[in-house]
Amino acid sequence: MIVGGTQGLGRRLAERFAERGEAVVLTGRDGSRADAVAREIGGETTGAALDLTAPAEIAEALEPVEAVDHVVLAAIERDANTIRDYDIERALRLATLKLVGYTEVVHCLHSRMHDDTSVLLFGDRRGNVPIPARPPSRPSTAPSRRWCGRSPPS
Ligand SMILES: NC(=O)c1ccc[n+]([C@@H]2O[C@H](COP(=O)([O-])OP(=O)(O)OC[C@H]3O[C@@H](n4cnc5c(N)ncnc54)[C@H](OP(=O)(O)O)[C@@H]3O)[C@@H](O)[C@H]2O)c1
Repeated sequence: MIVGGTQGLGRRLAERFAERGEAVVLTGRDGSRADAVAREIGGETTGAALDLTAPAEIAEALEPVEAVDHVVLAAIERDANTIRDYDIERALRLATLKLVGYTEVVHCLHSRMHDDTSVLLFGDRRGNVPIPARPPSRPSTAPSRRWCGRSPPS
């Protein structure tokens, strides 16, 4: 199950699972686009419409999905919402997508998962610029274990 599988990382994962002979369901906001991408990928790939910004509709969209071995949550709406021009509606939309929508997908599929089902979530820039649990007490030039071997951001 690849949520956000019509392009980017989600699509690449859909292709890799399909190459392995797995049955893949990939989603996008537009069902016909998702179907078209599924046809391009081939194998046992199908498309489905799912909009994470409408979480109340997710359960119905996922109803046809049967047992799930892997869930990939790769959907994102690209939005640069700056402090200077902060738009609350856009902020709420993105928060709904990632916080409520992602969680609702896992909630809806939970009863169709087994003990070895994996759930993969993609993050954002935090992967490149980690936020420490506690800031270093004093400046240090040596990377500490807290930074996993990477230099802390300046
Ligand atoms: N690309 C990178 O280098 C990179 C690096 C680090 C982290 N990430 C993270 O990895 C994830 C995927 O990134 P990406 O670059 O592959 O994204 P992307 O190419 O922009 O693809 C986003 C996917 O999300 C779907 N989508 C958009 N809005 C949606 C909505 N409201 N409901 C449901 N699906 C929606 C899109 O499908 P439709 O348009 O067909 O609806 C598309 O399949 C993101 O969380 C991103 O932050 C990416």
